[in-house]
Amino acid sequence: MLSRRDFLKLVVKGAVLGNFSQLITPPLAKAVAAGEVHKLPVVMIETGTCTGDSISLDNIWTPTFSDILTNILDWRYDWIMNQVQGQEAYGILQETYEKMPHDYILIVQGSMIQRDNGHYNHVGYENGKFITGIELVRRIGLKAKYVVAIGSCATYGGPVSGYPNPTQSTGVQNILPERRVINVSGCPAHPDWIMGTLLHLALYGEPELEKFGRPKLFYGETVHNRCPRRRFYDQGIFATAIGQKECLFRVGCKGPVTYSDCPIRRWNDRFNWPIGCNTPCIGCTEPGYPDLMSPFTSHFPDIPFPGGTKVNTDSIGLGVLGLTSVAITGHVVTSLYKGRIQKNLLKTSAKTNHRPALKKAQAFHKYWLKKTNKI
Ligand code: SF4
Ligand code: F3S
Repeated sequence: MLSRRDFLKLVVKGAVLGNFSQLITPPLAKAVAAGEVHKLPVVMIETGTCTGDSISLDNIWTPTFSDILTNILDWRYDWIMNQVQGQEAYGILQETYEKMPHDYILIVQGSMIQRDNGHYNHVGYENGKFITGIELVRRIGLKAKYVVAIGSCATYGGPVSGYPNPTQSTGVQNILPERRVINVSGCPAHPDWIMGTLLHLALYGEPELEKFGRPKLFYGETVHNRCPRRRFYDQGIFATAIGQKECLFRVGCKGPVTYSDCPIRRWNDRFNWPIGCNTPCIGCTEPGYPDLMSPFTSHFPDIPFPGGTKVNTDSIGLGVLGLTSVAITGHVVTSLYKGRIQKNLLKTSAKTNHRPALKKAQAFHKYWLKKTNKI
C-alpha cells in the first residue's frame, strides 16, 4: 500500500510529468484487488451549475475515467454519468444515504440557489413533491463521511452568484454550517484536484486544508510564485496588451493573489494553461471570484503600505525591481486576506456598479475569517 508520503510525491511528480492519474492507478488498483482499500462510495449532486466540473473530470485521459469509476471508486450516483435515469437512478442515491450513513462521500457541483426556498433548482421528486438542491444537499450532507464541493460555484458561489445575484446563490459551506466542507475550487476544478482529493480521502482521510477549506496539496502556493513569467515581473517588464509574452500583471493578472498549482500542473493533459495562452489568470480558484477579480483585464488599484506610503502598481513597470516587487506581492496577499484590497476596491469602485458585488465579496471574506478564526 502506497504511503502518504509517496502519494504526496506522486501528486507533484504527476503535475510535472502530466500523468498523475496514470502514475497513481496501478498501485491503487493493486491495493484494491488485495482488499487493502475500501472502494469509496461516492454520490454527486449537481445544483446551480454549467456541469463544467464533470467535463473537466472527464479530461482524465490516461487511464480513462471509466477505469477509475470501476476499479478504484464506487461511483454510485451522478446524473450526468449514470446509465440509468429518473427514479431508478434516484433510488440508488436514496439507498446510499439510507443504508451507508457516514460511509460515503458527497460531492456537490454547483451553487446553492436560495431564492424562494430554492425552488429555482429542483434536483429530485419524491411523493409528489419537488426536492430542491439545498434540501437534498443538507439531507445527504449531514449523513456523509465527507462533503466535497467542487468548482467555483459549489465552493464559494462562483459565477452563478455574480452581481446582482438574482437567485441568491451561495457556496455549500454556507448552507451546511454543521459540516466542514472540503473546497476543491476552480472554474472548473482541475481533474487532478478532484481525483487527488477523493483518493486522499479514501486512503488517508482528510487532507490538510488551508483557511478557505482547500487542500494545501493543490492550493498551497500562489500562481505567481511558480509562474514562468515571474522573472519579467521581478524586472518590471510588463505586457501592455493581452497576447504578449511578458508578465501580464498590468493587463489584469490575478496570479499574485490566486492559490493553485496551475503553472506546474497545466490543463488538458498538461497541454497548456491560461498564462501559457498569453491571457491573465483571472483568479478562478479564489473566494469572491468573479466579482472580486473583475474587471478581469484591470490590475489591482494602488497598494497602500503601512504608514500611509502609497505604491502605484504602474510604477513597478517604471523600474522598481526585485525585493520591492516581492514586498508588493507579499503585501497584496496579506491585504487580500485582511480585507484591505477589498476596501480599496470599494473606494475606487464607489461610482461603478461593481460596488454591491464587492460588498458581498468583502462580507464573504469576513465570514470566512471568522469561521476559520485564523486572522
Ligand atoms: Fe505570472 Fe501573472 Fe505573476 Fe506576471 S503577475 S508573474 S503573469 S502570475
Ligand atoms: Fe484559474 Fe488562474 Fe489557474 S484563472 S485555471 S487559477 S491560472
